[in-house]
Amino acid sequence: MSSCNFRLQVQDREPNIWVLEDDPASADLLEELLVGMGARPKVFHYPEDLLRELAVFTTAPDLFILDVMLPEISGIDVLRKIRQLKGFQFVPVVLLSALDELEFRCEAIDAGADDYINKPVSPLELRLRLRSLLRVKEFHENLEQVDNVLQTLVSIVEAKDIYTKGHSVRVAQLAGAIADRLSLGSTESQSLFRAGLLHDIGKIVIDSTILNKPGRLDATERADLNRHPDIGATILSPLEKAKDVVTIVNDHHERLDGSGYPKGKKAKEISFFTRVLSCCDIFDALTSDRPYRKALSISEAFTIIDAEVEKGWWDREACFLLKQVVTDGELAYR
Ligand SMILES: [Fe+2]
Repeated sequence: MSSCNFRLQVQDREPNIWVLEDDPASADLLEELLVGMGARPKVFHYPEDLLRELAVFTTAPDLFILDVMLPEISGIDVLRKIRQLKGFQFVPVVLLSALDELEFRCEAIDAGADDYINKPVSPLELRLRLRSLLRVKEFHENLEQVDNVLQTLVSIVEAKDIYTKGHSVRVAQLAGAIADRLSLGSTESQSLFRAGLLHDIGKIVIDSTILNKPGRLDATERADLNRHPDIGATILSPLEKAKDVVTIVNDHHERLDGSGYPKGKKAKEISFFTRVLSCCDIFDALTSDRPYRKALSISEAFTIIDAEVEKGWWDREACFLLKQVVTDGELAYR
């Protein structure tokens, strides 16, 4: 088989490609081409049929090909409707049109199109474009699977530790709100949010009698609990793209004066993002019920945090940002 006759695949199977084309002859031609490429096409002649099927499908589409020029509604409008549906934000959409105007292309890309192909369709161009879009789809699916596994681990931790239910999500929301306030780029912002979700993931191996002990922990129990940042970092370390998250998870109980754990790192060794996460973590812990005390009010929590900033534990700027996020009502916190 020549290198240009490869068959389309997604996750080692035939991709399901939904086509919207009102012209029967063009639709037949496209269907034939797609079958020849190894895909499973499903052809619709009317937008309402495609949108209705999207509400009840049993086999989800891996990619859409939408004709732009339709009698009553534009393919771009159909695309906008698809993008509004839950779970369809990242499914690739290719628009087909005989028009090759820059303004038209811009509108398509703005509406969420991933690619734009001119009619008449070149079979080779179509095959190449679809292959690269399906690779992107596969990449997103793999990331989602990793996220789902991590989310499951977080749920297990929270199920073991009854007093920290919702803690990880709240810490992630606080850290994400601070990232927004700092106008961080999406990669940094995502790292901070993910670190919030995952910072206590190492508690998965800590005995639940320690996590839920109603009184203060003894020295042995404390030492066991204090392993969780290292264990969390070890769990996450195979994730090549999550180095920043691993660092934050590993360091989230370090203090600027070196009195934290697990390594007793000092200020210059602790990243600003870790400092942000530590403030969010300690704030949520103080404002939550614990086995040995009731939740403190927001102002009581900040009184303690301010005192600990003076002691040299937490970063002043990070805590200031946290206070702004909480007190300005940017986040519906509790
Ligand atoms: Fe922790």
